Amino acid sequence: MIIHPKARSLISKLSLPNPIQKYFSNLDWEIDLSNNTNPYGGNFSEYPDVKQNELKKLYLDTILSINPPPVNDITLGIGNILFTAGSMEGIDLILRTFSEPKEDLVCVTSPSFSAYTHWALIHGIRLQTMPLLGDNLAYLDIETILRINPKMMFICNPNNPTGTKIAPNTIETLCHSMNGFVVVDEAYIEFSDDSSSLFCLNKYKNLIILRTFSKAWGLAGIRCGAILADTSVINTLRYVQLPFSISTPSQTSVIARLEDPKSTLESWEKIKKSRTGLIEELLTFKGVSTVFVSETNFIMVILKNFPQTMRLLSQQKIHVLDCSSSLPNAIRVSIGTESQNQRFLEVIRFASLA
Ligand SMILES: Cc1ncc(COP(=O)(O)O)c(C=O)c1O
Repeated sequence: MIIHPKARSLISKLSLPNPIQKYFSNLDWEIDLSNNTNPYGGNFSEYPDVKQNELKKLYLDTILSINPPPVNDITLGIGNILFTAGSMEGIDLILRTFSEPKEDLVCVTSPSFSAYTHWALIHGIRLQTMPLLGDNLAYLDIETILRINPKMMFICNPNNPTGTKIAPNTIETLCHSMNGFVVVDEAYIEFSDDSSSLFCLNKYKNLIILRTFSKAWGLAGIRCGAILADTSVINTLRYVQLPFSISTPSQTSVIARLEDPKSTLESWEKIKKSRTGLIEELLTFKGVSTVFVSETNFIMVILKNFPQTMRLLSQQKIHVLDCSSSLPNAIRVSIGTESQNQRFLEVIRFASLA
């Protein structure tokens, strides 16, 4: 197997662990006596399917039918997908496969999802933070990024915790001009009206996309995410990934959800409608100074009286994310059920009277 030339040098020196050999093998067997499992153990006595070819095909067909490509010449196949134990595993896996500790430099945006920084630091990777610019935090200083020449650049689009999206063409410009990888985390893309970077995968071999079943697909508990990228990237990641990250029950749950997506798709519309209502209402409150336009299932709100409002929320046993370390007086609130949203609004309304 050919290891991607940008992978850590150590990887090409390692031989393939036994269970992962099955992933790359074309051998077809009827009886597998290679695993030392107990054949009397019932449903889960065997290891999970490592290839997941049917699941990969089902996933691709589903996402492309929900969001058809703008042109017909998109050729994505099962070789472009790797399932992970949530996209958190995807982030960790990409970092430890492609970044040489103490040597390589990774760029992250700010404010953004803290996991990129967290795992990069744990792996001893050098970090550079690039601020998101403009009123809607949609711009990056591309010139500086190109000058820094990072091994990879993480962009969360739409972004967590702001809910905003990056300006059109930014990702393509970076893919086109960067030597390293552009990792686009699309954990919330299903809630956005913008098109996915998925359709650029054929064009840019340095583009890596992260998706998850934890958010719009409503399956956070089963721990499944997906990495979409060029086949050589996927194969190299598979070489490094723990052999059986996605358990059999997880695979079964994902298949069931993808085979019957109707109520999930309806829930996306419901959440988007609640989002519009929540934003409209929040904008009428005196205690709210800014509500960011959201392309996700959460909203970032800048409060005028942050400490009192946080105290009231906690007295009412409502937990929202305190984002004040990223942006002064900011909170991030998820779109909940109608009654949860109303309870949240009542507190903000009350805080606005004070
Ligand atoms: C932007 C982003 N990426 C990835 C994740 C992790 O998702 P998962 O549950 O798939 O590990 C989250 C979860 O909050 C997220 O906000």
